[in-house]
Amino acid sequence: MTLAVGALALTMTSCQQKSEMDSFIDDLMSKMTIEEKIGQLNLHSYAGFRSAEKVNTDDENVKQLMAGQMGGMYGISNVNTLRQLQDLALQTKNGIPLIFGLDIIHGHETVFPIPLALSTSWNMPMLEQVTRTAAIEATATGVNWVFSPMVDIARDARWGRIAEGSGEDPYLGGEIAKAYVLGYQGHDAELDSTEVLTCVKHYALYGAAEAGRDYNTVNLGRQEILNGYMRPYAEAAKVGAASYMSSFNEFEGIPASANKYLLTDLLRDTYGFDGFVVSDATAVVEMVNHGIGDLQEVSARALQAGLDMDMNSDGFVGTLKKSLDEGRVTEADIDKACRRILEAKYKLGLFENPYKYLNPDRAAKEVFTSESRAFARQVAQECQVLLKNNGVLPLKKDARIAVVGPLADNATEMAGTWSMSSHAGESVTILQGIKDAVTNPNNVSYAEGSWFFLDGQLESDLKYGLIGIFMPNFVPEPVHTTPQAKLIAEAVAKARQADVVVACVGENANMNGEGSSRADITMPDAQMELLKALKATGKPIVLVLNTGRPLILNWEEENMDAVLNTWSEGSEAGHAIADVLFGDVNPSAKLTTSFPRAVGQLPLYYNHKNTGRPHGDFEKYVKFRSNYIDVINAPLYPFGYGLSYTTYEYGDVTLSSAEMAQDGKVTASVTVKNTGNYDGKEIVQLYIHDVVSTSTRPVKELRGFQKIDLKAGESKTVEFELTAEDLKYYNHELQYVCEPGDFEIMIGPNSRDVKMAVLTVK
Ligand code: NOJ
Repeated sequence: MTLAVGALALTMTSCQQKSEMDSFIDDLMSKMTIEEKIGQLNLHSYAGFRSAEKVNTDDENVKQLMAGQMGGMYGISNVNTLRQLQDLALQTKNGIPLIFGLDIIHGHETVFPIPLALSTSWNMPMLEQVTRTAAIEATATGVNWVFSPMVDIARDARWGRIAEGSGEDPYLGGEIAKAYVLGYQGHDAELDSTEVLTCVKHYALYGAAEAGRDYNTVNLGRQEILNGYMRPYAEAAKVGAASYMSSFNEFEGIPASANKYLLTDLLRDTYGFDGFVVSDATAVVEMVNHGIGDLQEVSARALQAGLDMDMNSDGFVGTLKKSLDEGRVTEADIDKACRRILEAKYKLGLFENPYKYLNPDRAAKEVFTSESRAFARQVAQECQVLLKNNGVLPLKKDARIAVVGPLADNATEMAGTWSMSSHAGESVTILQGIKDAVTNPNNVSYAEGSWFFLDGQLESDLKYGLIGIFMPNFVPEPVHTTPQAKLIAEAVAKARQADVVVACVGENANMNGEGSSRADITMPDAQMELLKALKATGKPIVLVLNTGRPLILNWEEENMDAVLNTWSEGSEAGHAIADVLFGDVNPSAKLTTSFPRAVGQLPLYYNHKNTGRPHGDFEKYVKFRSNYIDVINAPLYPFGYGLSYTTYEYGDVTLSSAEMAQDGKVTASVTVKNTGNYDGKEIVQLYIHDVVSTSTRPVKELRGFQKIDLKAGESKTVEFELTAEDLKYYNHELQYVCEPGDFEIMIGPNSRDVKMAVLTVK
């Protein structure tokens, strides 16, 4: 029996329970035909996301289900519909219940900030509570399996799905992955009816798509992936993640969904994962396009590599029997996958009670409650990164404020990418949040200010494209109904009458997320016109930036008085943003991705290596050094960066001993003082650098962080305990080792501004 270390969620509590499960499944499988076993490996959606109507038994997927050819269904969030589907499953010969999956990425009905925003809180207990809250809402609507957390490391802001993950750092990503899994699944072996199976995705390396183009090839070596990318997937397994989703991309010339090295050698044999792996949607059939065979061939390869369930391709259900008959796969291959699916159902308790998650009374009481919304507000307060402030913030509550921009009064856009909340239209807009906060709402004026893009077709595609995919007959409403010049003139007029302008601009939800790579990551053109016109008024401008990725903000940094990066903050966006704008909450979030100065710097990440011709981050161009003619090497805002309304002073780094044995421990400490006038929360970060090693190492690697509360004037000493484990890496022979020698131990408020002490490992 493989036991995951850590919290042991979803692992058997005793060998007796395990053997009870084994004999139950042995018995069940002995009654199943090969077709029925293959049927368990099949997953489809059903075209009735929230419909409570009678399930359509002429639907192809429902027909498959009724023929005992379906292991689970996904994309449905309605107890009534799901009960009907479960009824149908129970009426099949073996009466095996279905699992029900859903994309719950940053909250379900109560929408939390997008995951990239969540990661900037660096607050693990809070993030665990976020997925706990999502699990309660998911299960209240009949879902027992979430396609989450997304833990892909991404170093390239062109990739739209950077919004769905936790940024560029594998250590932080690993800590967040654990928090998310524990929030969804709980800490015990047993799952109660408010806890769900997680599906860690996208396994693996999806975030390393070349040139940031979605679904693109990944071109990395094993040493690099083990050191730079795999940690979050591995950490999720340690706390018992129940399932993984294989990704669209290839690695080493083999698509992830048929990659034995990834799916079996690493995931199962190295990380100790013992759940099931589902493919991403149509990832199996897409391997035909990758060019490694027809549907039968790619399905057989996927099964043998370690894929257990096929989402949407009909590759398993359509070809595995033939492959078995032809000797291409064995019955044992099929049994192994089938057993893993049945085990997941057993662990969910569905054989005992197939309706465990289908309580029709829960949704009304447990979804989108005032408590969950209050929590969403608190979370969103901690997910805003103050990038610049010349003193204009916090705003005064009695100021005359012009709130302008296409994202100022836009409830649905607050949800951000990958949200299917039926309450998206009820999100608090920034305008509303500001009005609720000020002393007199009549002092707040509003203007839409601009289009999103000058290109109306692009604007329409991004606004309605997704709906068009699911509803082919959908006719989009016209965009650009008011001329841009008129919108700008109105905003400028409002700005002139105000003391301060709050410009709410940036990306709308469809500009990031899946299938939304960008080659130009500056402010969209129409909104830049607005910002320039506002600047010409001479009024102080606070830029409230909505975005799902790092943008290039050189002009904004130079010309705006403050830049508050609010990402997409979810259901309580407006309130939480106003809380920060007016100083009721002191911003504390710190970036988990580097913000470039030019797209040509990408991929850009703080934990890069030195070259043989290193060049200082802020040094000007020098021929024959590792730099650019036209931009310095430094990002505009580095990893770990974020301002506050107060200031912090860091003392020197001290070590409890300058030397450490391989089995020893050392404490690194630093005293941090709040030297400003506001109470605050500071994220203290510890980085290491292996000075000389047998393989090259990054110039800095995060190995610890603490988020502390510091009252104005207060000092605290922050301690980090280090062991050899914290200093290990995968060497060129892929052994995980701590090599003796000197390590720089750096502590600071971000990855750039650190103080250092040297530790010698014996
Ligand atoms: C495709 C996406 O890549 C994945 O994240 C999602 O879970 C599946 N579709 C299912 O909707």
